[in-house]
Amino acid sequence: MRIDIITVLPELLESPFKHSIIKRVQEKGLVEIVVHNLRDFSTNKHHKVDDYSFGGAAGMVLQVEPADLAITHLKKQRQYDEVIYTTPDGQPFTQNTANQLSLAQNLIIFCGHYKGIDHRIREMHISKEISIGDYVLTGGELAAAVITDAIVRLLPGAIGDETSALSDSFQDGLLAPPVYSRPADYKGYKVPEVLLSGNFKAIEKWQLDQSLERTENLRPDLLD
Ligand code: ADE
Repeated sequence: MRIDIITVLPELLESPFKHSIIKRVQEKGLVEIVVHNLRDFSTNKHHKVDDYSFGGAAGMVLQVEPADLAITHLKKQRQYDEVIYTTPDGQPFTQNTANQLSLAQNLIIFCGHYKGIDHRIREMHISKEISIGDYVLTGGELAAAVITDAIVRLLPGAIGDETSALSDSFQDGLLAPPVYSRPADYKGYKVPEVLLSGNFKAIEKWQLDQSLERTENLRPDLLD
């Protein structure tokens, strides 16, 4: 898989992909993550990529030309399954979306910034608009990092224990059960007996009961 991220702030995306699982997945050759600076596609001598909005609304707008040049440049090199735009008015990002996107070969993520992007880019190039939650960030870079992380960890071979990604919260529409490690007794706080019993049937039942109970209590909306 290849993920191309276009942004006015490439510095913000330097660290998130350089550690732990996401770093190893790239080293294994399962994904290539390439960050592009939108300013490199500006035809302005000061590398400007934003301008005032027509109609006088407050805030600057990412201009149509550099965005078009950047996306067109990439599209000439390979076929993309989706051109994603990160924006608070996009579709809410869910585990389901991550699962679907993890099947793609090539993705572009265009990070929104300022007041947003000239709407014509959305008409010309964007196939999917994604929000990571009902709040407004200073830009779409952190959203792009979240989306990339959620997709990349699902790639076959990304996580050592193959069943691990499948047992995440949300994969079966339920929150994950609590997990424990040694010591079995810490300052009187004890690990539930059943987990020490070695009875796998009983453990499985306990985990499912816990998942259901936690979902009912914490996220009843997921059971609807
Ligand atoms: N850009 C600003 N806020 C955002 C959000 N909540 N999701 C995606 N992109 C954004």
